[in-house]
Amino acid sequence: MLDDVEAVVLVGGKGTRLRPLTLSAPKPMLPTAGVPFLAHLLSRIRAAGVRRVVLGTSYLAETFEEHFGNGESLDLELTYVVEDQPLGTGGGIANVAKHLTTDDVMVFNGDVLCGTDLTAVVDTHRRTEADVTLHLVRVQDPRAYGCVPTDADGRVQAFLEKTEDPPTDQINAGCYVFRRSVIEEIPQGRVVSVERETFPGLLEAGAVVSGHVDNAYWRDMGTPADLVHGSADLVRGVAPSAALPGPAGESIVLPGATVAKDAFVFGGTTVGRNAVIGAGAKVEGCMVFDGAVIEPHAVVETSVVGAGARIEAGAHVRDAVIGDRAVVGAHCELKGGVRVWPEVRLPPHGVRFSADV
Ligand code: GTP
Repeated sequence: MLDDVEAVVLVGGKGTRLRPLTLSAPKPMLPTAGVPFLAHLLSRIRAAGVRRVVLGTSYLAETFEEHFGNGESLDLELTYVVEDQPLGTGGGIANVAKHLTTDDVMVFNGDVLCGTDLTAVVDTHRRTEADVTLHLVRVQDPRAYGCVPTDADGRVQAFLEKTEDPPTDQINAGCYVFRRSVIEEIPQGRVVSVERETFPGLLEAGAVVSGHVDNAYWRDMGTPADLVHGSADLVRGVAPSAALPGPAGESIVLPGATVAKDAFVFGGTTVGRNAVIGAGAKVEGCMVFDGAVIEPHAVVETSVVGAGARIEAGAHVRDAVIGDRAVVGAHCELKGGVRVWPEVRLPPHGVRFSADV
């Protein structure tokens, strides 16, 4: 049990890749499988035995405390530290240093969905007497990520940029254990990237940087496609979480929602509060936010339907983000990464879009 470890969660990013969803809520607060994404991460941290968590906030900072308060409902003690100007991942860690008291501190990116055994990561840190330990996860296609090769003893050798020909399938999973004294050395009051500055600097200075490698479930929820698939994995129980508001299965339907008897709602779909799914509609692997309406015989696949948005009868939407209160007119066809901005109304009857509107 990690009752002698405090945690820091970085939640200050602007989440630009998830716009327009992140215009009204920071990425870690987006409703994911029925609760803010951060609730899944915090419940995992609590389940590992950690009691005290410091949130490094910046963008829409007040929304976190408004929802989670002092952390009591999660049996956590939460502290909020605000950066007036975002200080980057390293700057965000440095900014919370004075609120930390334990010798070892876990640090999490607030947008990663992961199933790794947190106790095992800390065990590796202590066994190897490391200054910093990184959770490294093996992925099928490491080309989209910076790679982190380790030697036979598990010591990190380098931090490599994205390349077409990666020398290893191990990538930085966005979860670290720091000696608190190392956090105290990160420069204060300016932008610092932990990945590009702090970690390479530690290697250069001869610090012990360990890798804890595994094949755990892992997904960075930074893009619409990852958010939608990660949410569906949570709903179906593929990604572990103690914070699901119902049993894992094909769908989670929140209180107040109405789903027509002959609608097909499956593939890990979440139907938000007071949302409506009409007769004969097919909704597969979607995030349907509160108060959204999917009218009869519409087909919506692997998409986000924003709060109060409306997909009219017979429309077909796939791999799309529909902003809050936007309207997709009857029989429109939207496919292939289309994002509809909040309040936009697409006229009915067979309009086809394949770019942002
Ligand atoms: P994009 O703009 O889409 O790249 O998203 P992002 O701003 O969230 O950046 P990124 O995905 O690289 O961030 C990884 C994690 O670090 C997320 O949980 C962010 O909330 C957090 N983060 C990023 N920048 C900052 C920052 O300046 N301060 C703090 N406290 N956290 C940050």
